[in-house]
Amino acid sequence: MATADSSKRIKVLHVSPEAVPFCKVGGLADVVGSLPPSLKKSGADCRLLLPAWDGVLDAARDKGLKLERIPRSVDVAIDWRVCRGTLWKTSDGELPVYFLESPFFQGKNIYPQQLDPESVLPFVFLSFAALELEEVSEWNPDILHCHDWGTAPLIIALLWHKYYRLRQFEYRTVFTIHNLAHQGHLPLYSLRDWGIAEDAFTMFGLEYYGGANLMKGAVVGASAVTTVSPTYAWEIQTEEGGAGLGGLLRSHSHKVRGILNGLDTAYWNPLTDPLLPANYSQKDLTGKKKCRNALLEQLGWKEDGRPLFTSVGRMVDQKGFDILLPAIPRMVEWGCRLFLAGSGQHEYETAIQEASGRWPDSVASFIGYDEEIAHQAYAGGDFFLMPSKFEPCGLSQLISLRYGTLPVARSVGGLADTVFEYGAPGGNGFLIFDYSPEGLLSAIGRALDVFWNDAGGYRAAQVSGMASDFSWDRSAPVYHDLYRSLLP
Ligand code: GLC
Repeated sequence: MATADSSKRIKVLHVSPEAVPFCKVGGLADVVGSLPPSLKKSGADCRLLLPAWDGVLDAARDKGLKLERIPRSVDVAIDWRVCRGTLWKTSDGELPVYFLESPFFQGKNIYPQQLDPESVLPFVFLSFAALELEEVSEWNPDILHCHDWGTAPLIIALLWHKYYRLRQFEYRTVFTIHNLAHQGHLPLYSLRDWGIAEDAFTMFGLEYYGGANLMKGAVVGASAVTTVSPTYAWEIQTEEGGAGLGGLLRSHSHKVRGILNGLDTAYWNPLTDPLLPANYSQKDLTGKKKCRNALLEQLGWKEDGRPLFTSVGRMVDQKGFDILLPAIPRMVEWGCRLFLAGSGQHEYETAIQEASGRWPDSVASFIGYDEEIAHQAYAGGDFFLMPSKFEPCGLSQLISLRYGTLPVARSVGGLADTVFEYGAPGGNGFLIFDYSPEGLLSAIGRALDVFWNDAGGYRAAQVSGMASDFSWDRSAPVYHDLYRSLLP
């Protein structure tokens, strides 16, 4: 059973559907790939449990990791049925990782297109398997740290599963909200089929407008709820930003806290980045100029002194494409060049391709994700566009700041905690205050003014961003303190 005193190393199991370098859909994978190793460095006995989606075990072996098969099978109780899985553990490398193998994870994209009683089962299996880990692996964590709706069933099971709650685990749980837009809505009966007891299905439990809301259940049940920036922690407790859970989060505000995400600063380092055509640091930005020239050349553009705005990320509503697209004609008129890399909603992809057809010398895009192109866009731009509608934390602005590319970002969520308006103390970018094409253009106007008229100020803002500490060294100790505060 999990017990701890403060002199003992805290044992923390992170449970997530995705983590780099094994499998990735979005920013969650970056965070889960880099936070546990930092916690481990700072003294916690931290481990990670991941589903072995197709290709995951091969990815681990390709990284040179040795995998050891744990002899005992993982027997999970979904309702009173037993579902069996196999656990693999890395036996070298810095962070112990458990990979859970099961037919549940085969032939699937990580997240289903449509969440329903059937497509949720891989997440239920993963979550419940975490509760069996201590039996199977003979390692008993003090804290179970769950990420987003896909691991909410773990916290739900501890409180309301007919079998698991009888086991009387002494785990403390942390639930991290990376994005409140995805909460996990299901019909109540499907949770009955997992073995969840009736007392969960009230408004004080996980019932939500007659259905089940997994995230709600996790917020109610977790020992602590964190989210990925202080401003987002505040926003999600409002009616406007709470996506239907504002009141609930407010009533649990004593256990809600925002901890800013960090960056893997060893990987994202312009001085050593092997994917850049040239390296550089804040002391000498000659290499950045070379990166810019290389990017222009790749896009078939001649250097003519015009400012280059880049962006990397999913082309979806959240990222502000509905205000960016109508602003493009004016940006072109003002002499801007734009390079947008990413993929997402079909209508945005097409509109961007049309724009590059219309203004071939000013607008270019790369539809898809390519690690090398992403690095070159972070390094090669003069400005980095991030007009997000909402942004729990955002990692791209941290990367662009570190690469000396001034962000033009909406003043919201984690962007508001990391991007500061030019001219203010610590100014490192330009903020969009109003969520509209005009609001975006106003920030771009201020950016252009500095670009054309104030080379010294532009340079100072670059240095301010590049000198900031966005590493996990800043936030890992905050998680550590939180874990400690949860132990008896
Ligand atoms: C989600 C959020 C993003 C955040 C990331 C990691 O992808 O949209 O803002 O940075 O999770 O926490």
